[in-house]
Amino acid sequence: MGAIAAAAGSAVGLGNIWRFPYIVGEDGGAAFLLLYVFFTIVISIPVLMTEFSLGRMTGQPVTSAFKTLCPGGKWQAIGILGVLTAFLIMSYYNIVSGWTLYYSVASVGGWLEGLSEDQIRQFFINISTDSVSCVVWLILILAATAFIVAKGVSGGIERYSKILMPLLFLLIIVMLVRSVTLSGAAEGLTFYLKPDFSKITPKTVFDALGQSFFSLSIGMGTMTTYGAYIQRTQSLSGLAMRVAAVDFLVAFLAGAVIFPCVFAFGINPGQGQGLVFVTLPNIFNMMPLGRLFSVAFFSLLVVAALTSSISLLEVVVAYIKTSFNMGRRKATVIASALTLLFGVACAFSPTFFYIVDNATANIMMPLGAFFIVIFAGWILPTQKIFDELSIHGTRFKLFRAFCFILRYVVPIVILIIFANGLYCWLA
Ligand code: PHE
Repeated sequence: MGAIAAAAGSAVGLGNIWRFPYIVGEDGGAAFLLLYVFFTIVISIPVLMTEFSLGRMTGQPVTSAFKTLCPGGKWQAIGILGVLTAFLIMSYYNIVSGWTLYYSVASVGGWLEGLSEDQIRQFFINISTDSVSCVVWLILILAATAFIVAKGVSGGIERYSKILMPLLFLLIIVMLVRSVTLSGAAEGLTFYLKPDFSKITPKTVFDALGQSFFSLSIGMGTMTTYGAYIQRTQSLSGLAMRVAAVDFLVAFLAGAVIFPCVFAFGINPGQGQGLVFVTLPNIFNMMPLGRLFSVAFFSLLVVAALTSSISLLEVVVAYIKTSFNMGRRKATVIASALTLLFGVACAFSPTFFYIVDNATANIMMPLGAFFIVIFAGWILPTQKIFDELSIHGTRFKLFRAFCFILRYVVPIVILIIFANGLYCWLA
């Protein structure tokens, strides 16, 4: 149960509720959603299964896992790429967590209550462009994350999150009821659910793959690290599918809450990273007990973000600990201080923030996944993965299809998407 909660805790976070809707909005709605589902089923679930297998096979976090499987080889570089990716994601992810924390405090104070759509937008602009206060909130979030990781008590927060995350889910359902009954909601649902295939561009395809990787925390070693804690009796394919299903459901419902409201209030769906923060307060303002719901929602979102950022920091800390032979506490302090440095850069430069957000999800994670599947599909003896995916002597029936996907489909799709992106970028 622990490993499932941890993996789901890592997957479900700001990626589902903040990033997913803003990318869907930028990329034109339903057609993107279909691509996202397609990539999740065909590419991401097999990659997730592979990462779990590598972790459980070795019982090691990501960098050591590759060292154990291929001593002296160059494959450890995959682990290092993962550590770098985790580190870069942390620098902007925690800023968004900081905004979320600020919104929960603002909800307690009732500062968003009764504001018009314009005033809510201004409220977000004020907080997101006030770099100094972004850094202050970032420090608070980083301190909380570092405290949990340094003490090695992530298990504690995962225990709470087993109760708190279903609560967040229930809240989203309540918000959904309010959102889809707003006048003008239908237009939003059409945007979200009725595909217009002319909206598919190389950027949409790039974004869909990146978002799918980002949301499932794959292509950088988090799930390899967590794989080490999964019991031998657990089916890895079942686990991967369950994690992906929960993760998708939360993202899908978040979108279903946001877009009806976006259209009902005449908000621009393609405005980018502030979308959720300028949309949701409007829903709370139209709900009975809205202030209470707003406090609960943003606080629970902070918890969801924490269980994800813990999993990011853990990757970096495990690396520093083993490579430099350092204690957990010291490694955590160093990793957090470095994160703060890059975080400050993100807080002061929106361009840097945007580039790091896009480059990590769209380039670094697919690149990591590419090397992981090449390693697992072509370098590692097939039998090893097969043994890991079969439990209690029951053969994993879809293994041949799985191997085909691992060896050919995933690497080729990633290469095509990269080549296409590069071509468009150069053209
Ligand atoms: N999947 C997390 C989310 O959706 C983000 C994350 C990415 C966490 C990579 C760990 C590793 O919020």
